[in-house]
Amino acid sequence: MKRVVVLLALVMAITTVLAGCGKTDAKMDDIKKSGKLVIGTNAEYPPYEFHKQIDGKDQIVGMDISIAQAIADELGVQLEIKDMAFDGLLAALQAGKVDMVIAGMTPDEKRKKSVDFSKIYYQAQQGVVIRSEDKDSYKQMSDLDGKKVGVQLGTTQEEIAKTQVKDAKITAIASVGDLMLQLKSKKVDALIVELPVAQVYVSKNPELVIADAKPNDDVGGSAIAVHKKNPSLVKALDSAIDKLAAEKKIDAFFVDASNLMEK
Ligand code: ARG
Repeated sequence: MKRVVVLLALVMAITTVLAGCGKTDAKMDDIKKSGKLVIGTNAEYPPYEFHKQIDGKDQIVGMDISIAQAIADELGVQLEIKDMAFDGLLAALQAGKVDMVIAGMTPDEKRKKSVDFSKIYYQAQQGVVIRSEDKDSYKQMSDLDGKKVGVQLGTTQEEIAKTQVKDAKITAIASVGDLMLQLKSKKVDALIVELPVAQVYVSKNPELVIADAKPNDDVGGSAIAVHKKNPSLVKALDSAIDKLAAEKKIDAFFVDASNLMEK
């Protein structure tokens, strides 16, 4: 008898929890009702996301955009892209201006305090970009000590420059393209960006190379940021990412994006 009571109580508790889960947010319904998934990104981070003239029209393309498109297709809605400064993305998310942020964003502990993240959909390391002529001067991170280091504003690279480079003179600005120009014109000595991004820029600029020095990055990956009140969206994103990964689509999107960059 006692056991039956305990069992009943348990069943009731589980049912309550489950019912609660279903009710906590209506985000998926909202997205489906509105017929569109609105994403926030910062489209100057090839091959993750970048602008590209296609058929005479400026378009935003890249691995993240292909992933977002696949998710929108999965949900049966249109994809709407809002391109903005990287350091404004999480504020836009919290203000409800976008449904999610996909921007090669690293799910670090600091951000996790204010937003939730999907699982990591792409692993990457960090890279240091320097001028070709300095190739032999930056063998390890300590060679950057006291140097002028450029990073994109509000990124984990800014954190890396602050914590892993002693006495760094940091230039933190919004545009990665401008950072590359500053490196070429010797306003900065080195840039820290995700390695795939470093590779794209270096392949287009013979006067730049990737240094042997490699920053540490214990998270080392990108995830999609979602408002803390939308667990149903996180769940949908995780299962979409699992599906894409199982079909090897994410790697294919990466290759597609890199090929688009070449042209
Ligand atoms: N992974 C780094 C971060 O999360 C840099 C991402 C920059 N992304 C971009 N689209 N500009 O801070």
